[in-house]
Amino acid sequence: MTLPKVCPKPKAPPIKSQGIKTKLVPLILASIKWDGKGRWIEPFLGSGSVLFNLQPDRALLSDTNRHIIGIYQAIQTGELSSASLRQYLEREGKKLESQGEDYYYQVRERFNESGNPFDFVFLNRASFNGVIRFNSKGQFNVPFCKKVDRFRQAYITKICNQVAWVSKILQGKDWTFIVQDWREMLARVMPDDFVYLDPPYVDRHTDYFNHWSHADADELAETIKNLSCGFAYSMWKKNKYRENEHLHQHFSRYPWITCNHYYHVGSTEDLRHAMEEALIISPGFLAFTENYP
Ligand SMILES: C[S@@+](CC[C@H](N)C(=O)[O-])C[C@H]1O[C@@H](n2cnc3c(N)ncnc32)[C@H](O)[C@@H]1O
Repeated sequence: MTLPKVCPKPKAPPIKSQGIKTKLVPLILASIKWDGKGRWIEPFLGSGSVLFNLQPDRALLSDTNRHIIGIYQAIQTGELSSASLRQYLEREGKKLESQGEDYYYQVRERFNESGNPFDFVFLNRASFNGVIRFNSKGQFNVPFCKKVDRFRQAYITKICNQVAWVSKILQGKDWTFIVQDWREMLARVMPDDFVYLDPPYVDRHTDYFNHWSHADADELAETIKNLSCGFAYSMWKKNKYRENEHLHQHFSRYPWITCNHYYHVGSTEDLRHAMEEALIISPGFLAFTENYP
């Protein structure tokens, strides 16, 4: 497979998340040189924005957040389709409009008991700023966005079209979605595979599924440097206060691609901010002239 030199306007997947990379997809895909013989491996899948825009034939995809993986498994089996989601959102949207805020909290409670993927889409789209956050007991705890008419026809159509897009891509693909820690996932890589890593930022979006300490970041960096296949690693390089020393410490001899990015999704102002992002690429897998820090 040849990765696109210029990716046409990237599309957004059905799940919104605070670390979503949709806007960086063109740069990420244009920077990687990989022959596509093995599997595309993403141990920190999140919303899957990079995966769905690349559409490799074979892929191994995981995340510790079982709700995110659950949605993609449900689309894969057909349990969640564009048509069934439309029916659900029209029905639940009407209830939200007539019963107001209380209804959002009823759905949140129901989701925290059952983990239903349809309810997860509802909460992801009606929560404050589209944030995904779980408390220390693993319960979704984001408050309501305060818009009782959230699920208007045009918005429902937009979400259902995103599901239809993903569901079409999944047809005929050899893709496996697993709930798994990155360590188990990376133990499965083979020399022809390519790994794209987008872990949480150290000490930032901390919640039940996003504990990410300096020790985790160091362990991941040492592990990927010893992989038998190519990799690309996304991480912040600089914000208005400081440089990310972790990158300099572990990857000063690797090629880096950098760009400015603005995060629009976040619960607080300091999470919605401009950031310089880096993409570290393993030697031999960079698509253009090498650029060191
Ligand atoms: C920055 S997000 C990935 C965003 C994704 N690239 C996108 O475009 O939406 C990081 C993801 O790592 C997952 N995660 C956190 N700790 C993990 C771990 N130990 N193993 C695997 N996944 C983990 C989180 O649940 C989250 O979905």
